[in-house]
Amino acid sequence: MSTRAAGIVASQVILKNNSVLGLATGSTPEGMYRELVKLNQERTVDFSGVITFNLDEYIGLPPGHPQSYHHYMHHHFFNHINVAPQNIHIPQGQAGNMAETCLEYDQKIADAGGIDLQVLGIGANGHIGFNEPHTYLKMQTHLIDLTEETVEANSRFFDTAEEVPRQAVTMGMGSIMQARRILLLASGKNKAPAIKETVSGKITTAVPASFLQLHREVILILDKEAASLMMELDQRFHIPGLWHRDVS
Ligand code: GLP
Repeated sequence: MSTRAAGIVASQVILKNNSVLGLATGSTPEGMYRELVKLNQERTVDFSGVITFNLDEYIGLPPGHPQSYHHYMHHHFFNHINVAPQNIHIPQGQAGNMAETCLEYDQKIADAGGIDLQVLGIGANGHIGFNEPHTYLKMQTHLIDLTEETVEANSRFFDTAEEVPRQAVTMGMGSIMQARRILLLASGKNKAPAIKETVSGKITTAVPASFLQLHREVILILDKEAASLMMELDQRFHIPGLWHRDVS
């Protein structure tokens, strides 16, 4: 999965050296970042012209906190590649004026010309970035209360329950859906229901990833477990052919 995903990101950057990449955190893309670091170090891919925008950040964690997404991105990726520091953008989880900072983040994405390739993971509840299931979703970058399910899922990274952030700042559905291409990675059985709903369920704010059905070019890279419920479905009826599916 990681090699395939890294190959797609690398080819995007090789074809357009000033690509705008939307980047995700979580355990799923860690291997992809490892592969991309190798490709950069062996000079197959040059990140010097690339601009990056991360999807999200926890509220309240300083950038140096080992569980902050700032730390994650530098630790797994940015510290090991030749990206220009001024081209890295990650939402601020400790901004004084959150509303203004969110507006500025969207403006920076627009000024960069929008996102060429957006990498996504998916929450077991169907969230993308930190756009959580709700009665409505937001277009713009915004502050969000995390659901109990997400707080619980994230608690594996923290020593005590009190430390687990309950709020985050996330890119909204707008910047994600406006990305020219989307690369969604999912592995493990616990992601299978969310993947099934994403691919063939109703388009609903209860499963934010289901909106990806409206996107022109989504590449799914799944392991067999994450794809298991989808494959059952596939045997019964055809799933829209616009989606590239790659089940390793
Ligand atoms: C967090 C992140 C998401 C990520 C999700 C899944 O909630 N905000 O961007 O997709 O976790 O993480 P994992 O890959 O660890 O399952």
